[in-house]
Amino acid sequence: MKIKRYLLFILIIAGQVIGVAAQTVKGPIKDDSGNPVNAHGAGVLFHNGTYYLFGEIKKGKTWLVPGQQWEDYRVPAGGVSCYSSKDLKNWKYEGVALAPVKGDPSNDLDTSRVIERPKVIYNEKTKKFVMWMHIDKKDYSYSQSGVAVSDKPAGPYRYLYSIKPNVQMSRDMTLFKDEDGKAYLIYSSEQNFTMQVCLLSDDYKRPTKTFTRILIGKKREAPALFKNGGKYYLITSACSGWSPNAAMYAVADNPMGPYKEYGNPCKGPGAATTYEAQSTFVLPIKDKPGSYIFMADRWNKLDLEKSDYLWLPLTARKGKVEVKGN
Ligand code: DGJ
Repeated sequence: MKIKRYLLFILIIAGQVIGVAAQTVKGPIKDDSGNPVNAHGAGVLFHNGTYYLFGEIKKGKTWLVPGQQWEDYRVPAGGVSCYSSKDLKNWKYEGVALAPVKGDPSNDLDTSRVIERPKVIYNEKTKKFVMWMHIDKKDYSYSQSGVAVSDKPAGPYRYLYSIKPNVQMSRDMTLFKDEDGKAYLIYSSEQNFTMQVCLLSDDYKRPTKTFTRILIGKKREAPALFKNGGKYYLITSACSGWSPNAAMYAVADNPMGPYKEYGNPCKGPGAATTYEAQSTFVLPIKDKPGSYIFMADRWNKLDLEKSDYLWLPLTARKGKVEVKGN
């Protein structure tokens, strides 16, 4: 009996290692037609057995916004792309999920603006797919969150509006939908000094008045939140423009915090720069509790269209998070 259980354990572990290793990405990704996947600052929705990858379309010449004190490199905002996959290896291009607008700088979706870090969750009550994203002006002074909806996972999405949740700045962001159906917007706020977590309305389309301040004064961005064993894990980066820096994770008993800070989840050579990348999402691997894919962007700041991807196995066990770069 003991031997049988032991063998089963070995099989499960072997399955996890093989399965996760297959999803490691270091560089560009090609879709089913052989074209480069253009989905940066991405997030993944798992719906009815299919993974949907959403990301920023970066296409065109990169330019430096004059008069800024930081690496304000920009590329035309190309809207949001969507790719689908059953196995996280073969990606079918589903098209432009949220189209940009041309020649109307006053429009949130104009190509001269900033459309970053799109994330999508499904609302069981309304049967709508709800996308949130960071909407900004080229100098990042607008600091709003945009909302779009669709009846179908891959879109097209209908843009509704952008908003400052509770009149708070919101830049780098992510969404998190909990098992009880509540959803949260997590975003860099207060000039990037402090993050905030805001409970969304039941239809996921609006912020509620319930929000908390977390990682106060810690200057974090690129949030990626996941849940394991009843705890909430938040991975963030420091703020250094497009240049990579060390990641940090924090743990809480509730999505709204308080979060206790731990160190860098990355280990070994390259850990100090998150292996030359910046977090964007942590994807739970279906049926493999404790196993995740850490998804990150390898920005090419001088040619943003050429930015690459870094997807690595992440494990969360007994409150400890580890991203394996090698
Ligand atoms: C880092 C952010 O995480 C990115 O999404 C982007 O906004 C760049 N900063 C801009 O420099």
